[in-house]
Amino acid sequence: MAQTDTEIVRGELLFDGNEKQVYATEDPEKVIFRFKDVATAYNNIKKAVFPEKGVVSNRISSLLFSYLEQNGIHTHFIAELGDREQLCRRSRNIPLELKVRNYFAGSLADRLGIDDGTKAATVIYDLNYNRQDLGDPMVNDSEAVALGIVNFEDLEFIYDVARRVNVLLSELCGRAGLKLVDFKLEFGRDAEGRIMICDEIGPDTGRFWDAATDERLDKDRFRHDLGYIVASYQKVLDRLLAVSGGKPADAEPVRS
Ligand code: TMP
Repeated sequence: MAQTDTEIVRGELLFDGNEKQVYATEDPEKVIFRFKDVATAYNNIKKAVFPEKGVVSNRISSLLFSYLEQNGIHTHFIAELGDREQLCRRSRNIPLELKVRNYFAGSLADRLGIDDGTKAATVIYDLNYNRQDLGDPMVNDSEAVALGIVNFEDLEFIYDVARRVNVLLSELCGRAGLKLVDFKLEFGRDAEGRIMICDEIGPDTGRFWDAATDERLDKDRFRHDLGYIVASYQKVLDRLLAVSGGKPADAEPVRS
């Protein structure tokens, strides 16, 4: 057992990922997410350490999750704990990733032969099966249901939540002088079986561009060796803080 920066006691290490760790707490329905200073790309082929990246990523994700919670979106986020930790609801993982795209970029721009940064005529939703050993393949709705991962009602809910998240985050980013090009969502179920958004949202899992210059302020800086990774993430954080009235509020009071 190790003490975190607050009174919450960090228990057993439940999951040790490339960029994040998950720890148990004394409450079986609550876990601690800890952000490392590691960046990975291309299914972990590329990997590097950037001091303080985990701190900035934690702040951004805490801010965005608490903003979503305040706007009626159910997420796993409960509260920011210390510099690089947050308290979250324990989630029963749904092995799907949903990419939400407002502009063509990255793998989609490559796949369809369209210039990076072209505005999409409609929001694009790409559903992927979260199976790293298979390279997280794209699946359609009936495949996801046939695999037994979700039912059609769950999918309807997931797409509706993703649409609302996109509206909320695009509006927030717009006020912050940022263009939300795309982002990836992960989902899980809480103790009552309700679907909630899990994992993280930020420049590691979404594309955030400067709205005026199209400067990339996200993980593409690492993917394409553009440098200034943490400084760019910090720019995203500073701009979001400027339009969010400072520190993100806790979604729920922290038990001491
Ligand atoms: P893509 O252009 O590689 O398909 O990625 C679309 C968005 O999804 C981008 O913002 C990065 C994010 N993403 C992840 O968070 N995890 C992943 O494993 C992949 C492939 C993409």
